[in-house]
Amino acid sequence: MILLTGAAGFIGFHTIQALLAQGEAVIGVDCLNTYYDPALKQARLAQLQGRNGFTFYQIDISDEASMRELLIRHPEIDRIIHLAAQAGVRYSIENPMAYTVSNLDGQMVMLELARSLQEAGKLKHFVYASSSSVYGGNTKMPFSVTDPVEQPVSLYAATKRSGELLTQSYAHLYRIPATGLRFFTVYGPWGRPDMAYYSFTKAVFEGQPIKVFNHGDMRRDFTWIDDIVDGILGALKDIPTENAPYVIGRAPHRLFNLGNNRSENLLDFIGEIEKSTGKTAEKVFCDMMPGDVKETYADIDASKEVFGYEPKTPISEGIPKFVRWYKEWA
Ligand SMILES: NC(=O)c1ccc[n+]([C@@H]2O[C@H](COP(=O)([O-])OP(=O)(O)OC[C@H]3O[C@@H](n4cnc5c(N)ncnc54)[C@H](O)[C@@H]3O)[C@@H](O)[C@H]2O)c1
Repeated sequence: MILLTGAAGFIGFHTIQALLAQGEAVIGVDCLNTYYDPALKQARLAQLQGRNGFTFYQIDISDEASMRELLIRHPEIDRIIHLAAQAGVRYSIENPMAYTVSNLDGQMVMLELARSLQEAGKLKHFVYASSSSVYGGNTKMPFSVTDPVEQPVSLYAATKRSGELLTQSYAHLYRIPATGLRFFTVYGPWGRPDMAYYSFTKAVFEGQPIKVFNHGDMRRDFTWIDDIVDGILGALKDIPTENAPYVIGRAPHRLFNLGNNRSENLLDFIGEIEKSTGKTAEKVFCDMMPGDVKETYADIDASKEVFGYEPKTPISEGIPKFVRWYKEWA
């Protein structure tokens, strides 16, 4: 049985659907915070509730006592997929403390649960979400998991990198088999309204202008949600031992990039939205925002080699599918 946090979130929702389709039982946890419209989180949950094998709890993961109670109530839990986090680079400038509660305290509580399961001889694997933002101002392309990541340029990035380091110490001390996944700009149906692909699509349909940061001189590695879910499920099955390739130090802990391995120009990406919506975007060119990075580009060789990760969806296929979903949802 799998304990999955961030169950009402974008990536959590899709991951649970795939797990249920494989016959897995999932205990989903989410606090349903109001960072973006909770109606979208409720609508995702409504698709999951009542499905065979799915149980949901509204709990804040930083509430250690409630999370421990959950382990007692469900002694069959043997794997954890930890996706709950305060996401978003820009929001971290105005609301820094939201990041320490969810991403630092929350990561610690999840590691403590993993430790309890490990001590009880039950834990098979602790898989958790990290982010491409840990690469910060790295200018070496593509970003490899062996690149230095000591220069976060936002608090969000700093908390995600801290989550990796906290996990390394737990994996080392308590021999917790752990895998951290650095996701690169994930997009798709049921996606996050705070992300550019979503807010641009909304603005274009509503005839509103869009802000194009760094005057359009930005590149992103965009990853289709189904490719990310395949990567999460592939990583979950590949349990690291202390001698496995890519482990860090002597701990059974590995980090992988999950991206598309293509860095797309922001203006080409906006062009795909224009094609799919049949409308021209009114672009307002602006300077770079604090906390943003100019380019992301994932080296996925390690993920390919270890668990056969193979993203299949270019933005020319993904954006039209997203726009079709958006028209139905909006
Ligand atoms: N979507 C992306 O492009 C992307 C890129 C890099 C990393 N990530 C990471 O992937 C994970 C999932 O992201 P997502 O895009 O699905 O985001 P999301 O915001 O849609 O989902 C996260 C969910 O976690 C929940 N949550 C937040 N704090 C919580 C807490 N303290 N207790 C319980 N629940 C809490 C939220 O209510 C939300 O439903 C996050 O860890 C995020 O940092 C996402």
